Amino acid sequence: MSQRRQFVLWIALALVAVLGFAAILRWQYQPTQRRFALSVTPRPAEGRTVYEVKGCAKCHGTDGVGGTDAPALRERSSLTSLPLLVTAVWNHIPRMSDAMQQGRMPYPTMSSEDMAQLYGFGCGEYTADQIEKGDIGPLSDDAIREFALGVAEKFHAKIVAITIRYPDSFEEQRWESAAVDDQGNFFRSPKVRSMVLLDRLGGGDTWNGGFYYGLLTAGFGAEGIEKGVLVGDAATRIKQSMMFDLPIVTKSEVRDLLRADLGGGGKRVSR
Ligand code: HEC
Repeated sequence: MSQRRQFVLWIALALVAVLGFAAILRWQYQPTQRRFALSVTPRPAEGRTVYEVKGCAKCHGTDGVGGTDAPALRERSSLTSLPLLVTAVWNHIPRMSDAMQQGRMPYPTMSSEDMAQLYGFGCGEYTADQIEKGDIGPLSDDAIREFALGVAEKFHAKIVAITIRYPDSFEEQRWESAAVDDQGNFFRSPKVRSMVLLDRLGGGDTWNGGFYYGLLTAGFGAEGIEKGVLVGDAATRIKQSMMFDLPIVTKSEVRDLLRADLGGGGKRVSR
Protein backbone atom coordinates (compact mmCIF):
# COMPACT_ATOMS: atom_id res chain seq x y z
CA MET A 1 0.00 0.00 0.00
CA SER A 2 1.39 3.44 -0.91
CA GLN A 3 2.21 5.84 1.90
CA ARG A 4 -0.48 8.20 0.72
CA ARG A 5 -3.10 5.44 0.87
CA GLN A 6 -1.96 4.41 4.32
CA PHE A 7 -2.24 7.99 5.48
CA VAL A 8 -5.80 8.32 4.14
CA LEU A 9 -6.74 5.01 5.76
CA TRP A 10 -5.45 6.10 9.18
CA ILE A 11 -7.23 9.43 8.94
CA ALA A 12 -10.49 7.63 8.06
CA LEU A 13 -10.07 5.24 10.99
CA ALA A 14 -9.37 8.13 13.35
CA LEU A 15 -12.51 9.88 12.15
CA VAL A 16 -14.61 6.77 12.72
CA ALA A 17 -13.17 6.45 16.25
CA VAL A 18 -13.91 10.09 17.09
CA LEU A 19 -17.47 9.87 15.72
CA GLY A 20 -18.03 6.62 17.65
CA PHE A 21 -16.81 8.26 20.84
CA ALA A 22 -19.10 11.27 20.28
CA ALA A 23 -22.04 8.90 19.73
CA ILE A 24 -21.28 7.06 22.99
CA LEU A 25 -21.03 10.34 24.91
CA ARG A 26 -24.39 11.47 23.52
CA TRP A 27 -25.98 8.15 24.32
CA GLN A 28 -24.67 8.27 27.90
CA TYR A 29 -25.83 11.84 28.35
CA GLN A 30 -29.51 10.98 27.91
CA PRO A 31 -29.79 8.58 30.87
CA THR A 32 -27.93 11.15 33.00
CA GLN A 33 -30.66 13.63 32.28
CA ARG A 34 -33.40 11.06 32.74
CA ARG A 35 -32.17 10.13 36.19
CA PHE A 36 -33.18 13.50 37.53
CA ALA A 37 -36.62 12.60 38.75
CA LEU A 38 -38.38 12.95 42.07
CA SER A 39 -42.03 12.18 42.13
CA VAL A 40 -45.52 13.01 40.92
CA THR A 41 -49.00 13.69 42.20
CA PRO A 42 -50.69 10.29 42.54
CA ARG A 43 -53.57 9.61 40.15
CA PRO A 44 -55.03 6.18 40.96
CA ALA A 45 -56.85 5.85 37.62
CA GLU A 46 -53.56 6.30 35.77
CA GLY A 47 -51.84 3.92 38.17
CA ARG A 48 -54.42 1.35 37.18
CA THR A 49 -53.72 1.95 33.47
CA VAL A 50 -49.98 1.46 34.06
CA TYR A 51 -50.77 -1.75 35.95
CA GLU A 52 -52.79 -3.03 32.98
CA VAL A 53 -50.63 -1.77 30.10
CA LYS A 54 -47.38 -3.08 31.61
CA GLY A 55 -48.76 -6.61 31.88
CA CYS A 56 -49.07 -6.83 35.70
CA ALA A 57 -52.80 -7.53 35.30
CA LYS A 58 -52.13 -10.53 33.03
CA CYS A 59 -50.79 -12.48 36.00
CA HIS A 60 -52.28 -10.66 38.99
CA GLY A 61 -55.79 -10.13 37.56
CA THR A 62 -57.50 -6.86 36.63
CA ASP A 63 -58.32 -5.78 40.15
CA GLY A 64 -55.28 -7.42 41.68
CA VAL A 65 -57.51 -10.36 42.64
CA GLY A 66 -54.88 -12.86 41.55
CA GLY A 67 -54.75 -15.44 38.78
CA THR A 68 -53.43 -18.92 38.10
CA ASP A 69 -49.91 -17.52 37.72
CA ALA A 70 -49.76 -15.05 40.59
CA PRO A 71 -51.17 -14.33 44.03
CA ALA A 72 -53.87 -11.78 44.83
CA LEU A 73 -52.03 -8.56 45.51
CA ARG A 74 -54.58 -7.00 47.80
CA GLU A 75 -54.06 -9.68 50.42
CA ARG A 76 -50.29 -9.33 50.52
CA SER A 77 -48.76 -7.62 53.51
CA SER A 78 -46.44 -5.90 51.03
CA LEU A 79 -49.29 -3.59 50.10
CA THR A 80 -49.78 -2.27 53.60
CA SER A 81 -47.05 0.36 53.41
CA LEU A 82 -44.95 2.09 50.78
CA PRO A 83 -41.55 0.85 52.09
CA LEU A 84 -42.83 -2.76 52.06
CA LEU A 85 -44.28 -2.34 48.57
CA VAL A 86 -41.09 -0.81 47.15
CA THR A 87 -39.01 -3.62 48.71
CA ALA A 88 -41.41 -6.33 47.50
CA VAL A 89 -41.43 -5.07 43.90
CA TRP A 90 -37.63 -4.70 43.95
CA ASN A 91 -37.16 -8.31 45.14
CA HIS A 92 -39.87 -9.51 42.79
CA ILE A 93 -38.25 -8.21 39.58
CA PRO A 94 -35.90 -11.19 38.84
CA ARG A 95 -38.66 -13.78 39.40
CA MET A 96 -41.17 -11.71 37.47
CA SER A 97 -38.81 -11.27 34.53
CA ASP A 98 -38.12 -15.05 34.37
CA ALA A 99 -41.85 -15.81 34.47
CA MET A 100 -42.51 -13.19 31.81
CA GLN A 101 -39.84 -14.64 29.55
CA GLN A 102 -41.33 -18.11 29.92
CA GLY A 103 -44.78 -16.74 29.17
CA ARG A 104 -43.31 -14.83 26.18
CA MET A 105 -44.53 -11.52 27.54
CA PRO A 106 -42.57 -8.41 26.57
CA TYR A 107 -40.51 -7.07 29.48
CA PRO A 108 -42.18 -3.86 30.69
CA THR A 109 -40.23 -0.63 30.39
CA MET A 110 -41.21 1.93 32.98
CA SER A 111 -40.73 5.67 33.02
CA SER A 112 -40.44 7.54 36.32
CA GLU A 113 -44.01 8.70 35.79
CA ASP A 114 -45.18 5.05 35.40
CA MET A 115 -43.38 4.02 38.58
CA ALA A 116 -44.78 6.95 40.51
CA GLN A 117 -48.29 6.07 39.38
CA LEU A 118 -47.77 2.43 40.28
CA TYR A 119 -46.66 3.34 43.81
CA GLY A 120 -49.18 6.18 44.06
CA PHE A 121 -46.56 8.41 45.59
CA GLY A 122 -46.65 12.14 44.96
CA CYS A 123 -44.71 15.14 46.14
CA GLY A 124 -45.85 18.41 44.83
CA GLU A 125 -45.91 20.92 42.11
CA TYR A 126 -44.07 19.20 39.25
CA THR A 127 -44.91 15.92 37.49
CA ALA A 128 -42.23 13.28 36.89
CA ASP A 129 -42.55 14.03 33.16
CA GLN A 130 -41.72 17.70 33.72
CA ILE A 131 -38.85 16.80 36.02
CA GLU A 132 -37.47 14.27 33.53
CA LYS A 133 -37.47 16.91 30.82
CA GLY A 134 -35.79 19.36 33.22
CA ASP A 135 -38.92 21.41 32.73
CA ILE A 136 -39.17 22.88 36.23
CA GLY A 137 -38.92 26.35 37.60
CA PRO A 138 -37.38 27.35 40.93
CA LEU A 139 -38.24 25.10 43.87
CA SER A 140 -39.68 26.93 46.84
CA ASP A 141 -38.65 26.08 50.41
CA ASP A 142 -42.26 25.15 51.09
CA ALA A 143 -42.38 22.66 48.20
CA ILE A 144 -39.20 20.95 49.40
CA ARG A 145 -40.34 20.92 53.04
CA GLU A 146 -43.73 19.49 52.08
CA PHE A 147 -42.16 16.73 50.00
CA ALA A 148 -39.69 15.84 52.76
CA LEU A 149 -42.47 15.71 55.38
CA GLY A 150 -44.47 13.45 53.04
CA VAL A 151 -41.51 11.07 52.77
CA ALA A 152 -41.00 11.18 56.55
CA GLU A 153 -44.61 10.22 57.11
CA LYS A 154 -44.68 7.37 54.58
CA PHE A 155 -41.33 5.90 55.61
CA HIS A 156 -41.68 6.66 59.36
CA ALA A 157 -38.45 8.67 59.26
CA LYS A 158 -37.30 11.24 61.82
CA ILE A 159 -34.99 13.09 59.48
CA VAL A 160 -35.31 13.38 55.72
CA ALA A 161 -32.56 14.86 53.60
CA ILE A 162 -32.87 15.60 49.91
CA THR A 163 -30.12 16.32 47.43
CA ILE A 164 -31.07 18.14 44.25
CA ARG A 165 -28.93 17.93 41.14
CA TYR A 166 -29.56 20.16 38.16
CA PRO A 167 -27.72 18.54 35.24
CA ASP A 168 -26.79 21.40 32.90
CA SER A 169 -24.49 19.45 30.63
CA PHE A 170 -22.47 16.27 30.64
CA GLU A 171 -19.74 17.84 32.70
CA GLU A 172 -21.44 20.66 34.52
CA GLN A 173 -24.16 20.65 37.09
CA ARG A 174 -25.62 22.73 39.87
CA TRP A 175 -26.24 21.21 43.28
CA GLU A 176 -28.09 21.95 46.48
CA SER A 177 -29.65 20.00 49.32
CA ALA A 178 -32.07 20.35 52.21
CA ALA A 179 -33.00 18.49 55.38
CA VAL A 180 -36.03 18.41 57.65
CA ASP A 181 -36.60 16.73 61.01
CA ASP A 182 -39.67 15.76 63.00
CA GLN A 183 -39.20 18.80 65.28
CA GLY A 184 -39.90 21.11 62.34
CA ASN A 185 -36.26 22.14 61.84
CA PHE A 186 -35.46 22.84 58.20
CA PHE A 187 -32.23 23.83 56.53
CA ARG A 188 -31.50 24.32 52.84
CA SER A 189 -28.15 25.04 51.16
CA PRO A 190 -27.60 28.80 51.28
CA LYS A 191 -26.79 28.78 47.57
CA VAL A 192 -27.21 26.53 44.55
CA ARG A 193 -23.58 25.88 43.59
CA SER A 194 -22.35 24.92 40.19
CA MET A 195 -19.56 22.42 39.76
CA VAL A 196 -17.44 21.02 37.00
CA LEU A 197 -17.75 17.28 37.09
CA LEU A 198 -14.97 14.77 36.84
CA ASP A 199 -16.73 11.75 38.26
CA ARG A 200 -20.20 11.68 39.75
CA LEU A 201 -19.86 8.12 41.08
CA GLY A 202 -20.00 8.13 44.90
CA GLY A 203 -21.25 11.72 45.01
CA GLY A 204 -24.39 10.79 46.93
CA ASP A 205 -22.54 8.55 49.40
CA THR A 206 -20.08 11.34 50.07
CA TRP A 207 -22.90 13.77 50.69
CA ASN A 208 -24.39 11.27 53.18
CA GLY A 209 -21.00 10.92 54.88
CA GLY A 210 -20.80 14.69 55.31
CA PHE A 211 -24.38 14.89 56.52
CA TYR A 212 -23.87 12.17 59.16
CA TYR A 213 -20.71 13.94 60.25
CA GLY A 214 -22.75 17.09 60.87
CA LEU A 215 -25.39 15.20 62.86
CA LEU A 216 -22.84 13.29 64.94
CA THR A 217 -20.74 16.32 65.81
CA ALA A 218 -23.45 18.98 66.26
CA GLY A 219 -26.34 16.82 67.46
CA PHE A 220 -29.68 15.63 66.13
CA GLY A 221 -31.36 19.02 65.98
CA ALA A 222 -31.32 22.33 64.13
CA GLU A 223 -27.56 22.75 64.45
CA GLY A 224 -26.73 19.23 63.31
CA ILE A 225 -28.99 19.52 60.30
CA GLU A 226 -27.42 22.82 59.27
CA LYS A 227 -23.89 21.54 59.71
CA GLY A 228 -24.78 18.29 57.95
CA VAL A 229 -26.11 20.07 54.86
CA LEU A 230 -23.09 22.40 54.69
CA VAL A 231 -20.47 19.67 55.20
CA GLY A 232 -22.36 17.26 52.90
CA ASP A 233 -22.45 19.84 50.08
CA ALA A 234 -18.77 20.70 50.47
CA ALA A 235 -17.67 17.05 50.68
CA THR A 236 -19.63 16.04 47.58
CA ARG A 237 -18.35 19.03 45.61
CA ILE A 238 -14.82 17.89 46.35
CA LYS A 239 -15.60 14.26 45.55
CA GLN A 240 -17.28 15.00 42.25
CA SER A 241 -14.28 17.00 41.11
CA MET A 242 -12.03 13.95 41.34
CA MET A 243 -11.95 10.61 39.57
CA PHE A 244 -13.16 7.23 40.80
CA ASP A 245 -15.46 5.98 43.48
CA LEU A 246 -13.11 6.28 46.43
CA PRO A 247 -13.89 9.57 48.07
CA ILE A 248 -11.07 10.37 50.44
CA VAL A 249 -12.07 13.85 51.52
CA THR A 250 -10.31 15.34 54.49
CA LYS A 251 -11.67 17.63 57.18
CA SER A 252 -9.24 20.41 56.26
CA GLU A 253 -10.27 20.28 52.58
CA VAL A 254 -13.92 20.65 53.57
CA ARG A 255 -13.03 23.48 55.93
CA ASP A 256 -11.00 25.28 53.25
CA LEU A 257 -13.84 25.04 50.75
CA LEU A 258 -16.41 26.33 53.26
CA ARG A 259 -14.10 29.24 54.12
CA ALA A 260 -13.58 30.01 50.44
CA ASP A 261 -17.36 30.02 49.94
CA LEU A 262 -17.80 32.50 52.74
CA GLY A 263 -15.04 34.67 51.28
CA GLY A 264 -16.85 34.76 47.96
CA GLY A 265 -14.27 32.62 46.14
CA GLY A 266 -14.30 28.85 46.08
CA LYS A 267 -15.24 28.35 42.44
CA ARG A 268 -12.45 25.90 41.96
CA VAL A 269 -11.39 23.15 44.30
CA SER A 270 -7.62 23.13 44.62
CA ARG A 271 -6.12 19.83 45.67
C1 HEC B 1 -45.55 -13.54 34.77
C2 HEC B 1 -46.49 -13.30 35.82
C3 HEC B 1 -46.34 -12.00 36.59
C4 HEC B 1 -46.34 -10.72 36.09
C5 HEC B 1 -46.46 -10.26 34.66
C6 HEC B 1 -46.24 -9.84 37.25
N1 HEC B 1 -46.16 -10.56 38.41
FE1 HEC B 1 -46.07 -9.82 40.28
N2 HEC B 1 -45.97 -11.70 41.05
C7 HEC B 1 -45.99 -12.87 40.29
C8 HEC B 1 -45.81 -14.01 41.19
C9 HEC B 1 -45.74 -15.47 40.76
C10 HEC B 1 -45.72 -13.47 42.50
C11 HEC B 1 -45.51 -14.24 43.83
C12 HEC B 1 -44.12 -14.74 44.00
C13 HEC B 1 -43.10 -13.63 43.87
O1 HEC B 1 -42.99 -12.76 44.74
O2 HEC B 1 -42.43 -13.63 42.84
C14 HEC B 1 -45.83 -12.03 42.37
C15 HEC B 1 -45.79 -11.15 43.44
C16 HEC B 1 -45.95 -9.77 43.34
C17 HEC B 1 -46.01 -8.85 44.46
C18 HEC B 1 -45.98 -9.22 45.93
C19 HEC B 1 -44.65 -9.55 46.37
C20 HEC B 1 -44.66 -9.89 47.85
O3 HEC B 1 -43.65 -10.44 48.26
O4 HEC B 1 -45.65 -9.63 48.55
C21 HEC B 1 -46.16 -7.59 43.96
C22 HEC B 1 -46.29 -6.28 44.75
C23 HEC B 1 -46.18 -7.71 42.51
N3 HEC B 1 -46.06 -9.05 42.18
C24 HEC B 1 -46.31 -6.63 41.65
C25 HEC B 1 -46.29 -6.75 40.29
C26 HEC B 1 -46.31 -5.61 39.39
C27 HEC B 1 -46.36 -4.14 39.81
C28 HEC B 1 -46.28 -6.13 38.12
C29 HEC B 1 -46.25 -5.36 36.81
C30 HEC B 1 -45.12 -4.50 36.59
C31 HEC B 1 -46.23 -7.59 38.23
N4 HEC B 1 -46.24 -7.91 39.56
C32 HEC B 1 -46.23 -8.45 37.16
C33 HEC B 1 -46.15 -12.97 38.91
C34 HEC B 1 -46.22 -11.90 38.05
